[in-house]
Amino acid sequence: MSPAAAPSGAAALPDRISEELIARLVDLFYARVRQDPVLGPIFLARLGEDWEAHLATLRAFWSSVTLMSGRYQGKPHAAHVGLTIDTTHFGRWLALFELTVAELCRGPAAALFVDRARRISDSLQIGLGIGPKALNLPLRQPAAS
Ligand code: HEM
Repeated sequence: MSPAAAPSGAAALPDRISEELIARLVDLFYARVRQDPVLGPIFLARLGEDWEAHLATLRAFWSSVTLMSGRYQGKPHAAHVGLTIDTTHFGRWLALFELTVAELCRGPAAALFVDRARRISDSLQIGLGIGPKALNLPLRQPAAS
């Protein structure tokens, strides 16, 4: 196999986002989140065992973010207010999300999921006042010329 050729397993993965891919990603990612010793208890405390409605919301959210479907009309920032979370939780969330993305898709599909997740993670952290950007902004000085 030439160095440029993707392994056959990876080549079989979708490189375009579809509702079907979003459903598989959301379901697998949140199954892992629920099992995660750090993130799982945070969700359990908020949602209990009532996951069906949450998964439907998350599928609609990712559909709106990546396919511009307009299926999600909620307020993600408000949903995170009051959770005891810091930048390490977001780092762990992203690591788990990116691992799952890499297992289920490739190319432009994987790149878009990861890009949007990182941007929204940054935005949530800034909104909650815990993000590195939020903390650094007032201290940032112009680069010395
Ligand atoms: C520290 C990492 C995170 C934790 C612990 C966390 C936890 C939660 C919890 C507990 C809820 C349910 C809130 C409720 O229904 O009362 C929720 C909702 C939600 N989360 Fe997160 N979250 C994290 C990061 C993220 C990131 C990075 C994104 C997006 C990229 C995201 C997107 C959402 C969305 C869209 C909802 C649904 C909001 C709604 O009900 O309309 N979360 N999250």
